[in-house]
Amino acid sequence: MVAPKTEEAIELLRINGELTSKALAEVGKAVAPGVTTKKLNEVAETFIRDHGAVPNFLGYDGYPAAICASVNDVVVHGFPSDYVLKDGDIVSIDLGTKYKGYNGDSAYTFPVGEVDAETLNLLKVTKESLYKGIEKAVAGGRVGDIGHAVQSYAESFGFGVVRELEGHGIGRDMHENPGVPNYGHQGRGSRLTEGMVICIEPMITAGDRHVYLAKNGWAVHTADHKNAAHFELTVVVRKGKAEQLSTFEFIEKGKKVKF
Ligand code: MF3
Ligand code: CO
Repeated sequence: MVAPKTEEAIELLRINGELTSKALAEVGKAVAPGVTTKKLNEVAETFIRDHGAVPNFLGYDGYPAAICASVNDVVVHGFPSDYVLKDGDIVSIDLGTKYKGYNGDSAYTFPVGEVDAETLNLLKVTKESLYKGIEKAVAGGRVGDIGHAVQSYAESFGFGVVRELEGHGIGRDMHENPGVPNYGHQGRGSRLTEGMVICIEPMITAGDRHVYLAKNGWAVHTADHKNAAHFELTVVVRKGKAEQLSTFEFIEKGKKVKF
């Protein structure tokens, strides 16, 4: 049984969700061919600190940066580095904030310059699979309903669903119960109750779903080195319809979204 959050706690998570969403959009504006992923980390860290929060990834289990910048075949947890983004790459930016003792956590995969149609479709389907999952984040449902929705949608396009990592509850800790897998069966798993706050984060592969951990102990790569995409939002489980605490609207507003 996972305890629901008080509305006071949810308000602090909402503030973190909004700041995280805005930070992600700020990084998105800086994504371009010729830019290093280290530069993107600087943009994020500066923005987060300028808003009176701290980057919650930095130092988490020894993680060395404010963001994860996962390029192409890196699924998640790529370290920002001197790698220079090039036309046709995709880069998943995952970041979070800590403000007044609570956490934010969100991710978006950005195309760099001109990206081929097949890869844009991977981004589109991964983002849509996240929304399919959010539709199931309603009181009275089960965690397996979310996983099943994500999995069945992504697999219907022939994509792979990474199983080694999953979404999670969020609150005073960035990772709380329940775990939220991106695969599963309807009606199975922990029950979803009003006021639970969870992060749903599909990690979807263009090819085979299998992954391996890099020697640095963090970066997760696709085994076949094909591209992977990752999108993450934080939501409150509510009756009838989940409430989003983070959003992609700051990234996508006023833009011609290509996927
Ligand atoms: N944001 C990741 C998640 O969704 C966690 C990043 S790991 C960290 O669970 F060490 F970088 F924080
Ligand atoms: Co997360």
